[in-house]
Amino acid sequence: MNTTKSVIYSFMLFNILNICSINAAEILVNDGELIQDAIRKAGKGDTIKVMPGTYKETLYIDKENVTLSGVIIKGRRPLLDGENTRNDGILASGHGVVIENFQIQHYKANGIMTQGANNFIIRNNIVIGTSVYGIFPQFGKNGLVSHNIVSKVEDAAIYVGMCDNVDIVYNETYNSVMGIETENSHDVLVEGNFMHDNAVGFVASLVPGLPIKTAKNTIVRNNFIVNNNIDNFAPPGAIAAGLPSGVGAFIFAADEARFEGNIITNNVSAGIVFADHASLGASAPPDPAMDPRPDKAQVLKNVFVNNGLGPKDDIAALLEAAGIKKGPDVLSTGKGRKNCIQERSTITEAGTERWSECDADVTTVNVRSYRLEKPIESKALTLEQKGRITYLSVCTGCHTYATTIIGPPIAAVQATYKGKPEELVKYIKKPVKKWPGYPEMPPQDYLPDDVLLETAKYILELKP
Ligand code: HEC
Repeated sequence: MNTTKSVIYSFMLFNILNICSINAAEILVNDGELIQDAIRKAGKGDTIKVMPGTYKETLYIDKENVTLSGVIIKGRRPLLDGENTRNDGILASGHGVVIENFQIQHYKANGIMTQGANNFIIRNNIVIGTSVYGIFPQFGKNGLVSHNIVSKVEDAAIYVGMCDNVDIVYNETYNSVMGIETENSHDVLVEGNFMHDNAVGFVASLVPGLPIKTAKNTIVRNNFIVNNNIDNFAPPGAIAAGLPSGVGAFIFAADEARFEGNIITNNVSAGIVFADHASLGASAPPDPAMDPRPDKAQVLKNVFVNNGLGPKDDIAALLEAAGIKKGPDVLSTGKGRKNCIQERSTITEAGTERWSECDADVTTVNVRSYRLEKPIESKALTLEQKGRITYLSVCTGCHTYATTIIGPPIAAVQATYKGKPEELVKYIKKPVKKWPGYPEMPPQDYLPDDVLLETAKYILELKP
């Protein structure tokens, strides 16, 4: 290209960029102002910059491509404080949301939750002390969760539920029941994370009763999975309460979990445990539409040191029954198929009689990311579709058809509200405490009435 031409081109490019930036505004929020006011004003593509300070709010973002960005000045970042009275820190249903640079603490439900949002980015946040999940993308595709520090969560610190094509990379999670959990998800890369001092470091699960019937292909690579030995402090009714403590990684019926290059040390029950729906941790009735076994797992080259030195909970009972004293690096219970271990002779195993040696050249290194090259385009939805998606992206965070994750199974409440969807809407907007042994349900009153009515109708028709 000659010089004149290239000058013209770059001039044109400059103009195009300029036009874009005229459309995308930046809104500044100062300490003492409300962030939600700025979200209300924001349009598609806008960036909201939040100055350091303390903000006592729950934020809802239902617009597309909005960036919510904390401004960090000399180490001070904006603090969202739930004061143990508010339910959620940030709820986002708009596609393409970016949430970064916040400290979020002391919420009764979740720190950051995306609900049915695709193309999400959640990075460089500190989340402390939430009762349900810390960072929780639910029912979305194409996302990134990176460089967050999450602690003191009564369930999973980072929980990716029913999502596809997500990278969970370079996060630190500790003092939580689970460090990182992927659930009924596909094509997830979990790399470079530090999961330590949880009850269980990493979990990939296929939870029965959810509408997504498979969990498949999780690469767990180059993570530090260390010292996950604290007592399990999940609320007694929750499915997470059934997890045995002292486990580095727990694979619950999920297929194609591939471990490579991890350092897995000092987890007192075992390094990695593979369990099916019929064995360990299964407080749930099996789901007839699901394959209950963890298949096609690959434990490639990892560093296992000092695991299993003092097995606890169900793992202790299981090993004792088999006459084994020390927990193994890899423990398998149940009947998974086509599972393999590389360099088997270097590690300790139990229950892996049916496993084979992986081919020496098997590796995951050719996979750099599972995010998509292009963002998923958004489609307009009918009211009926919005009702279904609200169930999938909001309610299934805590409810399944037949099991207890956090709240009671839908099957158990259908009779109460049969033919009365309006009554159900009233409950969802203003729940009252009814179920012994369960926590409170956070009001979902931020959702529009017409969508809630469709959600209620959808739930009343729901089948296994
Ligand atoms: C953060 C967790 C959570 C979320 C999200 C949630 N629920 Fe609940 N839900 C609960 C808990 C906990 C209870 C039990 C509360 C109690 O003691 O009554 C409950 C109870 C219920 C009940 C039982 C009411 C009754 O009369 O017995 C229904 C129905 C229900 N939820 C529907 C929904 C719907 C619909 C949604 C989505 C719009 C939803 N929930 C979202 C946790 C949640």
